[in-house]
Amino acid sequence: MSPQPQASVGAPLSRVDGRLKVTGGADYAADHHPEGVVHAVIVDSGIGRGRISGIDTGAAEAQPGVIRVITHRNAPTLPYRDNAGSNNPAGGRRLRVFQDDQILFHGQPVAVAVATTLEAAQHAASLVKVVYDAQPPSTDLSDPDVPTNTPTTYARGDAQAALDSAAVRMEMTYRLARNHHNPMEPHATVARWDGDRLTVWDKTQWVIGGTQTELAAVFGIPLESVRVISPFVGGAFGSGLRTWPHTTIAALAARETRRPVKLVLSRRQQYFGTGFRPACEYQLSLGSDRSGRVSAMVHDMRTETSTYEPFGERGILPLGQVLYDTPNVSQTYRTARLDVNTPVAMRGPGFATAAYAIESAMDELSYELGIDPIELRVRNEPEADPSNGNAFSTRRLRECYTTGAREFGWDRRDPKPRATRDGDWLIGTGVATGVYHTLRNPAQARVRLDADGSALVESATSDMGPGTYTSMTQVAADALGLPMRRVTFRLGDSLMPNAPLHGGSLTMASVGSAVLNGADQLRQQAIRLAVEDERSPLYGADAGTVVVRNGRLHVPDNPSRGETYQQLLARNDRAGLEVLGTYTPVQNRFTIEAYAAVFAEVAVDARLGLVRVRRMLGVYDAGRIISPKLAESQAIGGMVGGIGQALLEHTVTDHRDGRIVNANLADYLVPVNADIIDLKAIYLQGEDMDADPLGVKGLGEVVLVGVAPAIANAVFHATGHRVRELPITADALL
Ligand code: MOS
Repeated sequence: MSPQPQASVGAPLSRVDGRLKVTGGADYAADHHPEGVVHAVIVDSGIGRGRISGIDTGAAEAQPGVIRVITHRNAPTLPYRDNAGSNNPAGGRRLRVFQDDQILFHGQPVAVAVATTLEAAQHAASLVKVVYDAQPPSTDLSDPDVPTNTPTTYARGDAQAALDSAAVRMEMTYRLARNHHNPMEPHATVARWDGDRLTVWDKTQWVIGGTQTELAAVFGIPLESVRVISPFVGGAFGSGLRTWPHTTIAALAARETRRPVKLVLSRRQQYFGTGFRPACEYQLSLGSDRSGRVSAMVHDMRTETSTYEPFGERGILPLGQVLYDTPNVSQTYRTARLDVNTPVAMRGPGFATAAYAIESAMDELSYELGIDPIELRVRNEPEADPSNGNAFSTRRLRECYTTGAREFGWDRRDPKPRATRDGDWLIGTGVATGVYHTLRNPAQARVRLDADGSALVESATSDMGPGTYTSMTQVAADALGLPMRRVTFRLGDSLMPNAPLHGGSLTMASVGSAVLNGADQLRQQAIRLAVEDERSPLYGADAGTVVVRNGRLHVPDNPSRGETYQQLLARNDRAGLEVLGTYTPVQNRFTIEAYAAVFAEVAVDARLGLVRVRRMLGVYDAGRIISPKLAESQAIGGMVGGIGQALLEHTVTDHRDGRIVNANLADYLVPVNADIIDLKAIYLQGEDMDADPLGVKGLGEVVLVGVAPAIANAVFHATGHRVRELPITADALL
């Protein structure tokens, strides 16, 4: 294959869709207004467990503009076929809307009001009278009597024996609050039936394998009868990885009323209408010798799930197995069945939870032993994957720490806790490691070159914010030898070639590799056409030496010998060329992960307990960086998210009735500009060609994973007080 010059990949470009996003030109799900659209508003259960004993929709239906109120009394039975392989957790039985009188959690949909205006639908929803047989719900993870699902376990060596004989033993319990994604764009679905064919405009992170397959399964119709359109997603962080009940409700309401229906969840409804990062109790015991070699770790984790679906954070286990070269490890992970809706993955799923516990514990050990926290980590750095002996493809964590320590000025710190002051403020610094495994899934992308020399690339992926539109355009432009402006990348339509879920940091590796494959194939097809065409100036040239730059095919040794795509296609009377690019991950014997070393400096008001993050630095080993500007933006977003997790974010449930009491952005705190002072990201230059053809390792998750523990460790260094619970609030520091 000819070595294509790289002009776009690696260049610090702005988003190709940036102008649309800041001018209101980007059409999010609720921005679609099909002819005759009406509005639906969900009525939420006012109890946390029990059954509906009576429901009166008369007053609601009597309102002007109200078309229909649907409840379990008048809703049709829906097939709800199994949907194995989709984003619905395996096992359990997904929530079936309006199929019976059972209430499984506070806020469960009990009715939907459909009206000609949003206001009429809202008013009608408020008039639906529901009478319940209520039972006390169980929503408290810390209640020891809560039933749990079969635990997931892991063991190597004999962790208990190693712990018993260790020179230094520590036993800690860490707690993490439930977090909600709170994307800026609310979840929304617009649904329209044309006969037995359904079209939905939906906020989703998985167009085909998620929304399309789930709606086909719920309504018992062929996959081809459902079209899902989702060109823009205004943030999601995992909340769009499942197809939630409101999407079914919108489609059901549209079918029942024979009108297109728009349903937008209110900010409050996001808190129980979609998923969340489950609260966690994480017990960690570790044993070490005096030199800081950790010989044993015992992990005992519990997270919350619903009574109807066993959602486990699969990512909670790997970190405890591969982060440190610990010979004896045991893990027990239980999910507790509570009267709540089902959780879902949230940025850095599982890894972020485990990293808070493990990286806090390592910090605690460093003070116990009087060893620098970075040095302690280096002493336990594995040479190969300790869980299976595999080599790491690339693991430059030491370099992340060296670079970070230098840039952050780690040496300047006084290692003693509570030793540095700035007026009323106690100053502290902390570090932590972030890891996320490099996931890759099969993907496809269609690449078309038109007679005018422009290209269109399509794949049914999403862009919830990382910059998929931009990065895919960069990859295609370079592989086709076109400037960015001649390449259009489209996504978010189930009619496009298949793409995996847009999550788990796998889009660049998976869809990007499919785009690369398609564009490479297409360029080679064009080159073949030229060198075999007697009328081409390139006739007879060695195809392997021909490159394309600015849309012109030529041989670098003799740049005057060449022609443009347009000339080639016109002469051959071709309207264009089209190729389906594919990517299938290859199994190899490497453990492939992205890494982060995260540094934080905090100031804690000694009298008020207020914590301010003064500055943060993340240094990342994430393979090749396609879009440096967008990657930096991702890292800053990860730090902002981590600051929220560390200091602010906490979904609070009233355990008496199961109601979420802070289901709004005034009471569920997220960082604002005043919380975000000085955040810096450094990506180590490099690539990982064992990961995928682009050499990328994914970065959307790893940038969040080590942030909260770095801040928690800095808070300890500042105050000498170890808080083992997130978020760290002022009261815990007084
Ligand atoms: Mo995410 S939890 O990768 O959407």
